[in-house]
Amino acid sequence: MSLSGKVALITGAAQGFGKAFSEVLLKRGANVCVADIKVQTGEATVSSFQQQYSIDRAFFAKCDVTQEKDVKATFDAVKKHYGRLDLVINNAGIADEGAWNKMIDINLKGVVMGSQYAVEALRRDKGGNGGLVINVSSAAGLAPVYITPVYAASKFGVVGFTRSWADNPHLGSMGVSFCCFCPTFAETEIMKGVDDGKKSLYAEDARELVKMLGVMSVQEVVDAFEQLLDLPDKNGVIVTVTKRNGINIKRPNVANKL
Ligand SMILES: NC(=O)c1ccc[n+]([C@@H]2O[C@H](COP(=O)([O-])OP(=O)(O)OC[C@H]3O[C@@H](n4cnc5c(N)ncnc54)[C@H](O)[C@@H]3O)[C@@H](O)[C@H]2O)c1
Repeated sequence: MSLSGKVALITGAAQGFGKAFSEVLLKRGANVCVADIKVQTGEATVSSFQQQYSIDRAFFAKCDVTQEKDVKATFDAVKKHYGRLDLVINNAGIADEGAWNKMIDINLKGVVMGSQYAVEALRRDKGGNGGLVINVSSAAGLAPVYITPVYAASKFGVVGFTRSWADNPHLGSMGVSFCCFCPTFAETEIMKGVDDGKKSLYAEDARELVKMLGVMSVQEVVDAFEQLLDLPDKNGVIVTVTKRNGINIKRPNVANKL
């Protein structure tokens, strides 16, 4: 997928997957808006991108995905900077069973709001160029995970929400596609406290599960992301990537075919 001259907005992009995805997009020629609640880290990330690519290829937007005024301001800033938008990656997330309410706000409601703003900005019938929404869920959005039941619920929600949008017959006329990205454990900051039971339930079981599933490098996740980018038709696709079974790309049956 050539992204030359295209524009992407990535939430939770100060570090981890979001930062790595932004770098892939920059390499493929896109301009990126790095949106994150972490200002210092986000600005440092953007400054390194600007040095490596060029100053006008990336900018930072302070954005808490639970706050509508931030989300609106971020979409407005993208329009002001680049005059277009082609790709939105709703990636911001936390994993902390002790903060379950906040976790649903960020992981599920944040994705819902980001997707709604994305559709309005992208849809061709309202002056957009069409485009793609990638919602970052998790393997915990596809199979039960009893050490993190609320995290799993938030990520199941993201899969159901994304698949429902992908099943919308009106999407075609809008020129918008929706897909979902579902990795297992990978070595980013979100793992801290999950692997030892501080942010998950049953410390011993958490350690066992992490040992059994293994922990991927960010590069293994990036490889799956690149495969997703290269698919000709991405609507309704669910990409899973696991240490044990590698990359798997599926387009599950839509509701009206059940
Ligand atoms: N690393 C894994 O094992 C793993 C596995 C499956 C899915 N995921 C998902 O991948 C996504 C990225 O996580 P990561 O692994 O890169 O972890 P990470 O902690 O390195 O990155 C998460 C980013 O989200 C940002 N963020 C948190 N709350 C926010 C908010 N309210 N508004 C805006 N930004 C906010 C953080 O500041 C951080 O930069 C998350 O949705 C996570 O659930 C991660």
